[in-house]
Amino acid sequence: MQRAEHTQDRNRADWVEKAWSKALRKIQRTSRRIGDGFPHASHNGVYELADPGWWTAGFWPGILWLLYNNAGDERLKALAEQCEEKLDGVLDGYVRLDHDAGFMWILTSVASYKLLGKEPSRVRALKAANYLAARFNLKGRYIRAWNPWTEGEDNAGVAIIDCCMNMALLFWASANTGDPRYRQIAEAHMDTVLEHFLRPDGSVYHIVRFDAETGERLEGLGGQGYAPESAWSRGTAWAIYGLTLAFHHTGKPAYLDAAKRAAHFFLAGLPEDQVPPWDFRAPQELRHIRDSSAGACAASGLLLLADQVDPLESAVYREPAIRILDSLYRNYGAWDDEREEGLILHGTGHYPEGKNVDVPLIYGDFFYVEGLARLLGKGPFYWE
Ligand code: GLY
Repeated sequence: MQRAEHTQDRNRADWVEKAWSKALRKIQRTSRRIGDGFPHASHNGVYELADPGWWTAGFWPGILWLLYNNAGDERLKALAEQCEEKLDGVLDGYVRLDHDAGFMWILTSVASYKLLGKEPSRVRALKAANYLAARFNLKGRYIRAWNPWTEGEDNAGVAIIDCCMNMALLFWASANTGDPRYRQIAEAHMDTVLEHFLRPDGSVYHIVRFDAETGERLEGLGGQGYAPESAWSRGTAWAIYGLTLAFHHTGKPAYLDAAKRAAHFFLAGLPEDQVPPWDFRAPQELRHIRDSSAGACAASGLLLLADQVDPLESAVYREPAIRILDSLYRNYGAWDDEREEGLILHGTGHYPEGKNVDVPLIYGDFFYVEGLARLLGKGPFYWE
């Protein structure tokens, strides 16, 4: 029995190393075309490059930093630095910024600063943090998500679950400057998440709309999920990871309890292949549509969660995270397919709008590589 377990462990380490090497090789190859662009979704094997102002701009440089830091490939580092510099136009342009300043500058400037310690990166990250903090609505105690998408649209009262991840920029800013205000704002937002986003069963609303003047909660909305009361899987993944980060940065037990609740909901809803449907409560005929990016994001968050809990409890989160990453490696990976630039197939970007369905997504690729890095102890991780 002991020997069987030992062999199982060795095999497990084998596939993780293999997946890491394959990801590195593939990114080294695709980076020759993508360069310092900002890939978002891969269609017909080719990553479409998005505007640098789009929320996904940090994920490609984030992958480059993770791989550079562990493989020492200076070309990947140079591209990551070029991406970071290109985002200066977005930061200076200002009016297009929204709450995703977190995703964008955590994975570029915070990452770069953690690895290289250069002052311009610190300053960029602080500028982005100041901007993000300024989106806080005092009455509703939430960070406003977006600016109007169309002229005259009033979305000053809109907050979304994805923003849990962006709070890591505020936690970083407080730690870096010694000024507690950023952390206080992040905590206030996360307390609002506990009160208004998280349902008793551990599922979450994607969008909650507040009255921006009074702060009163008006309604929960379906957003990228199937319906207001359904359970968008990537939203659940953002909650697992974001709440775990909030606990990591504050030590507040309520965040850990909530992260566990979201994790149990997510894990209980996984199908046999361990990769979630895009919405756990979509009608049965739509549940075959997977979102591999939600699986990758949740797995990386679950690995962090496993490190935050009592060691006796750790396997409850670590083992399923490994099962998700293993299935993504075996059943969803496009490792050796030279006609496909994405690493992980079958992501779902925005099902209700019919956008980027059943394609590789750059954030799925990022969280997959990050999950492997966690298993291999190849930090640092930029959210922490
Ligand atoms: N809105 C960010 C996401 O698609 O998860």
